[in-house]
Amino acid sequence: MSASINRRTFLGAAAASSLSLGLHSASAAPASDKIVVGVMGTGGRGTGLAKSFAQQTGATVAYVCDVDEGRAGKASEVVGSVSKAAPKVVTDFRRILEDKDVDVLVVATCNHWHAPAAILGCTNNKHVYVEKPCSYNPQEGELLVQSARKNKRQVQMGNQRRSWAKIIEGITRVRDGVIGRAYLAQSWYTNSRGTIGKGKPADVPKGLDYALWQGPAPAKPFQDNYLHYNWHWFWHWGNGELGNNGVHMIDLCRWALAADYPNRVTSTGGRYRYDDDQETPDTHQVSFEFEGKKSITWEGLSCNLMPEGQKADVIIYGEKGSVRISGAGYTIHDLKGKEIERSYGDSSDASHLGNFLAGIRESAKLNSEIEEAYKSTLLCHLGNISHRTGRALKCNPKDGRILNDKEAMALWTREYAKGWEPVV
Ligand SMILES: NC(=O)c1ccc[n+]([C@@H]2O[C@H](COP(=O)([O-])OP(=O)(O)OC[C@H]3O[C@@H](n4cnc5c(N)ncnc54)[C@H](O)[C@@H]3O)[C@@H](O)[C@H]2O)c1
Repeated sequence: MSASINRRTFLGAAAASSLSLGLHSASAAPASDKIVVGVMGTGGRGTGLAKSFAQQTGATVAYVCDVDEGRAGKASEVVGSVSKAAPKVVTDFRRILEDKDVDVLVVATCNHWHAPAAILGCTNNKHVYVEKPCSYNPQEGELLVQSARKNKRQVQMGNQRRSWAKIIEGITRVRDGVIGRAYLAQSWYTNSRGTIGKGKPADVPKGLDYALWQGPAPAKPFQDNYLHYNWHWFWHWGNGELGNNGVHMIDLCRWALAADYPNRVTSTGGRYRYDDDQETPDTHQVSFEFEGKKSITWEGLSCNLMPEGQKADVIIYGEKGSVRISGAGYTIHDLKGKEIERSYGDSSDASHLGNFLAGIRESAKLNSEIEEAYKSTLLCHLGNISHRTGRALKCNPKDGRILNDKEAMALWTREYAKGWEPVV
């Protein structure tokens, strides 16, 4: 297949070849125990995931893919150091999609690619491990859930805390009433990031396929402070700190309170610290109200670490006390804040990847199945939409959709580059 082939042509060809060969016609696990993985996006996260997948029993990483070929080459060496053979290096993820021996697509790219690539993975019979947030906007999240269902694929999001034993235990105890009825989950993330400066138009670096990096996002000329990583802070590709690190903590809050969709969302904050190109807030407070007298708050401080505090944390308040989920464990406190119990465990990614592979092999229940994962991702999108419109949002508590606000609902989706629109 030529590199210039567009998405629709590719899908048609893939569907036809799958039909004629009768490939992966149902959701069953692959015939053999061996699970073959292809990793798309090999920055720090994708490289770490590729290595961790290679270390899982019965899993083989056959491909590492990055539009920046130097990055993919390095990832291949890292995986090669822990497995029998180094994975093949490719720069176009469609090489992974078209290989019928690949069972799993791992999406660890920039956020604007997450759902479009994950949907293409499902359509091409791959199970998908998609990094958080699972989508760049709400509509893509809805489409990804539909695609997983339609194609009967296992899709797990990379909010790995869902698989850490002591966090599962702590949240289960909250839900079982250890602090009585839980009504508020407070969360935060702080960091000491520097400025991204003011960028200049520049030539695309050698070895980088910038057109494919942009993919579904309408094309913008290259600028020297967009990548890598800084795309998080531009609305065109990223979702700010809320969609970057907020999603981990907000997911724990939502899980603890058994809250699905909010009925009201408010946001305050802005880009307070530096005068540079960053568009997303560095100082951000968001609150979400749910039916049944429950709320979640999140505070993000990108350029100022909390003094002697935990960088990211969650505290759940109930009628009889509070539970603090911190690192890989939890503490229980009475109503006066006195610690009465503490329990800590392991924090590696291995358990989350293992759960995903068990979902494929034995239909084990996924710890962060995409429908639940999307609900947490949606809260981040709603917080950002409230920020961008400058007002509180009223939402339908049945599906989170924004009520009576056309301008806010316009941010439910985006304009797509031709040929890359996500289609279920
Ligand atoms: N679960 C976690 O704890 C965790 C931790 C860190 C990052 N993440 C998530 O992982 C993702 C990647 O994070 P990162 O820090 O590695 O970012 P990064 O920007 O350093 O890396 C992203 C990589 O994806 C590549 N890429 C972009 N488009 C591509 C395409 N079409 N095909 C192949 N490669 C493509 C880029 O060239 C880049 O190398 C982010 O979405 C982030 O939110 C999750």
